Amino acid sequence: MEQDIISSGYDAVYGSTAKSPTLRRLWHKYAEGLDFPEEFSHISLTTLPELQRISAELRLSADETFVDLGCGMAGPALWVARETGAQLIGVDLSRVATEQASARAAELGLAEQAQFVVGSFTDTGLEANVAAGLMSEDAIQYAPDKRAAMVEAARILRRGGRFVFTVYELDPDRAAGLPILGADLVDDYRPLLADAGFRVETYEETPGWPEPMTTTYSALLDEKEALTEEMGEAAAGALIVELSLTLEHRPYRRRVLIVATRE
Ligand SMILES: C[S@@+](CC[C@H](N)C(=O)[O-])C[C@H]1O[C@@H](n2cnc3c(N)ncnc32)[C@H](O)[C@@H]1O
Repeated sequence: MEQDIISSGYDAVYGSTAKSPTLRRLWHKYAEGLDFPEEFSHISLTTLPELQRISAELRLSADETFVDLGCGMAGPALWVARETGAQLIGVDLSRVATEQASARAAELGLAEQAQFVVGSFTDTGLEANVAAGLMSEDAIQYAPDKRAAMVEAARILRRGGRFVFTVYELDPDRAAGLPILGADLVDDYRPLLADAGFRVETYEETPGWPEPMTTTYSALLDEKEALTEEMGEAAAGALIVELSLTLEHRPYRRRVLIVATRE
């Protein structure tokens, strides 16, 4: 039931994001960076150098399959698919996101290389050992049970495969009581990964953190009126509340890039 509420919230986000040129323009300028290819746009803080790093760390070859957990519209994952030639399976709770991701794969000429399924971090619906690599960008902090999410990731990733992801560590003092983020306050993913059968190779903070987030969110809050006009009151209102709450409460301790191998 709670997941239904979260997925309809994300359906609304994805339905309205496409309608707002202001959101897209500011996200591109401050979060993605001006060098990020716009046809692979996203709603995370993934930059082009970081995406190049993620792609390299996955060590995929063209005959392999990789999975993106919480793929959203799948811009970053489709970029990796194009770079490596590997087959992509994108998983997201939002049906609207997976539909947009499928449409985008077709537009980019990558339809044969990509499929998208509705599923959650703890129940992807995928077969065991289906993936040679796993990626995820700025999504797993929303998992209501992160330990179970790591166990599911280990189940679908074959031995020796790499799980490369960015995620926010939650600050237990600041995120407690906040909707969604307050549900499972993990401030260090390493013990969970180790318990689920991963060897952690890399665990690094995003350089310059939290500047990319605060700059992006502040720029958006300065354009409240344009966002409301373009997205409608309900969707813009929900976005504005989330941005303001994040800047005010600072629930994220750090944003980290993690590389872990399935043992
Ligand atoms: C900040 S967005 C990032 C999306 C995408 N990775 C990108 O770079 O644009 C977080 C994504 O996590 C998805 N999500 C949230 N909770 C989830 C869950 N329990 N299981 C699977 N996906 C979830 C949302 O639908 C959303 O698409």
